[in-house]
Parts: sequence; structure tokens; C-alpha cells
Amino acid sequence: MFKNHIIRGQQLIRKLSRARSTIPQCAPATTPQEVFDRESKYGAHNYGPIPVAITRTKGVHAWDIDNKRYYDFLSAYGAVNQGHLHPKIVGALKDQLDIMTLTSRAFYTDVLGEYEEFITKMFGYDKVLPMNTGVEGGETACKLARRWGYEVKKVPKNQARIVFANDNFWGRTLAAISSSSDPTCYENFGPFMPGFDMIPYNDLAALEKACQNPNVVAFMVEPLQGEAGVIVPDPGYLQGVRDICTRNNVLFIADEVQTGLARTGKMLCVDHENVRPDLVILGKALSGGVYPVSAILADDEVMLTIRPGEHGSTYGGNPLACRVAIAALEVLVEEDLANKADKLGVILREELGKMNKDIVPIVRGKGMMNAIVIKETPDYNAWKVCLKLRDNGLLAKPTHGDTIRFTPPLVITEDQLMECVDIIKDTVMSFQ
Ligand SMILES: Cc1ncc(COP(=O)(O)O)c(C=O)c1O
Repeated sequence: MFKNHIIRGQQLIRKLSRARSTIPQCAPATTPQEVFDRESKYGAHNYGPIPVAITRTKGVHAWDIDNKRYYDFLSAYGAVNQGHLHPKIVGALKDQLDIMTLTSRAFYTDVLGEYEEFITKMFGYDKVLPMNTGVEGGETACKLARRWGYEVKKVPKNQARIVFANDNFWGRTLAAISSSSDPTCYENFGPFMPGFDMIPYNDLAALEKACQNPNVVAFMVEPLQGEAGVIVPDPGYLQGVRDICTRNNVLFIADEVQTGLARTGKMLCVDHENVRPDLVILGKALSGGVYPVSAILADDEVMLTIRPGEHGSTYGGNPLACRVAIAALEVLVEEDLANKADKLGVILREELGKMNKDIVPIVRGKGMMNAIVIKETPDYNAWKVCLKLRDNGLLAKPTHGDTIRFTPPLVITEDQLMECVDIIKDTVMSFQ
């Protein structure tokens, strides 16, 4: 019995070793169902996508495998602010591809410093620390805050605390889920990162109280909560956060991964209240959707607490990422996308607000980061509305059950937006 088991094991290893030395033959999928089935069979089930099999994108549009055209009203969770395949960003990527892609930070390149000068001058910080994904940006900000806490604020060793708001979302690493109040994110992934405190969002009194603990080094917060369902805090909240953090010698970390880069009608969402956080985390649209690029901006007092060898990433700050990020930032300014988002957002919310309140009781947002809440009945819910929107040529995804976020690429024209408003209104009306 035991011998058979060993023989079977050896046969399996021989089979696997043969498989690894042959190139697998995988024919392209030809129908949407084949696309769905293959992902389901071979991929982890960590996403539940809207059933649509996209095969190409351009500007504000996506096309499926049957060549049906859709408006993209998700923009890869706000990564494609500049529109899909923006020619300037793709051009920068292609040009750099012929020159140099990756050397690692073991050596200098002539591109990184140029990008660092560009982005720090644009946002007005002493320094930038380049990473790849948004969640790495958040991790890096937390590490910087802890370092600053021990070396500048003089918090006793290993006692640093970071405060977060309930319903935040900043990614899927163990640290990120340790600060999550959503069981879908954290359940059965413990043990969790110590030193994190949670307070309600949009609650300055709670922040004031949390900051009474002298070991608190930072408050990390989204200026407008995205994944929570586009939750806009009260006017004055960001200014209040700034004041409380300053008074208590606590760092204000703004997670602008989703809200930043013109999405809410300003280059940064904190610009709506003219406040300057101590750390800003950028990601997503920093590459316009062509490549993972993230960045943490801070001044020397914070940034220089991390010294050579104490933090990094093989791909962080690579030449391809730097060229792409410069182009992506230039496009935002050249095409005045922040002002455009501001103007179109007002129109969008006004139009969405005209829908039947029995079905859509709430419309909220800022700039072009908006959401509607669907009042669930046995006949319809946000998921069903999204399926119908898809059938009618518009792609959106529910968040938190009853909420549908509308975040189209900012290059959308007013005419296109009005066409989309009609699609949304007709869809919602069909549920009456
Ligand atoms: C506010 C915010 N921060 C961080 C992240 C994480 O970004 P990434 O998925 O690139 O790691 C997200 C992702 O949705 C986000 O919305």
C-alpha cells in the first residue's frame, strides 16, 4: 500500500517534469462562455466578475469577444483616468521599451531622477519613494510613519500606533486587511498586524480622542472613501484632520490611490480643502492603466528616516514605470482632466438625481467619482442592474451590495456622457 503510494508519487513527478519541459498548447477562447469557463477552471476564484469577455479597449470603450462595444464606467477602479491606451502614454511606454526596462535599484539610471524631480515638483514634496501597486504604497507609508514615530517623535520601541477609518480599503496584503472593518477582507486571514486602531470615518471627535495616545504616529485616510461605496465626508473634514494631526504631532497620510490624479475634480482630492498631508500615496492612474506604478510623497523629515537597504522593490522606480508616469501626469495637465471631471461630475449627478427615487434613493460623489444606491427588492438589486447595464452597453460593478460606482475615463465627452446617462436611465426605468 505504502509502496504503491511512493510509485504513484514518482510517476506523477516524472509526468510533471515532462510537462514543464514542453510548451502547453492553449487555443484562444472563441466564445464568452469559453472565456468564463477557462478562468473558472484554471484561475483562483478570488474575483466575481460581471460576465463580459473583453478583448480590446480604447479611450472610453471596451469591446467584447463578439465585437459588442461598451462604455467603460469602472475604468479599472479608477486606473484609466486618461482613457484606455492613451497614445501619449502608450508612446512613452513603447519608446522606453526599446531602450531599457529594468536594471533594479542596484544601479542608477538616467530616468529615475528625472521622474523624481518631475513628480516632486508637480506635487510640492521634497521626495518620492517609487513602488508598484497601491497597496505597496500604503505599506510603505505605514513603514515610514512607524520609522518617523521612533526616530523623530520618539515613541517607545515597538509601541507605534496607526489610526485608520472604518470601511477603509487600501488593498489585500496582511497589513491592509489588518486595518479593515470588512469581514470579507479579513475573515480567517489572522493573526493580524498589531498597532492599528480604528475610528469611524468622517468623525473628527473620534480622531481627536484617538490622537490623545502619545504613541499614535499617523492617521491614514482616503479623502473620499472609494471601495466603501463613494462616501464623501462633510465639508471641513480634511481641514479638521489636518488641524488635529498637526496639534497632536501625528502624520496625516492621504491615500489618494483612487481619489487622486484628477478623478474628483482636482489633481488631489485634498486640494478641495487646500490641505497638505504629510504623506500622499498615489497609484492606479499614475500609469493611466498601462503598468503598475505607485508612489509615496513626503518631506525629508519623514522620507530620510529610511536609509539604504531598509526598504525597496525590484521593480519600483524602473525606467519603464518612470517614463509612463511622467507621460500619464502630463496628460492629466495637458487635457485639463481635473476641471473636466469637476464639470462633467456636476452634470452626471444632476441627471442621475432625476431617476425614480423608489429605485435609486441616493446619488453621491465628487467630480467623476460617483455612485448610485439601488433599493433592493425581490425583483432587482445592484448586481441585476449591472447585468442589464451590460446588456445595454455600459460596464459597471456593484460595491457593497447595493451601490453601483460610476467612474468613467475622464476623457469622456459631454455628448458621450449624455448617451451614457440615457443608458443608465433606460436601464433603471426598465425595473419599474
Ligand atoms: C484607496 C485605495 N488605496 C489602495 C488601493 C490598492 O491598490 P492596488 O490594488 O493597486 O494594490 C486601492 C484599490 O482599490 C484603493 O482604492
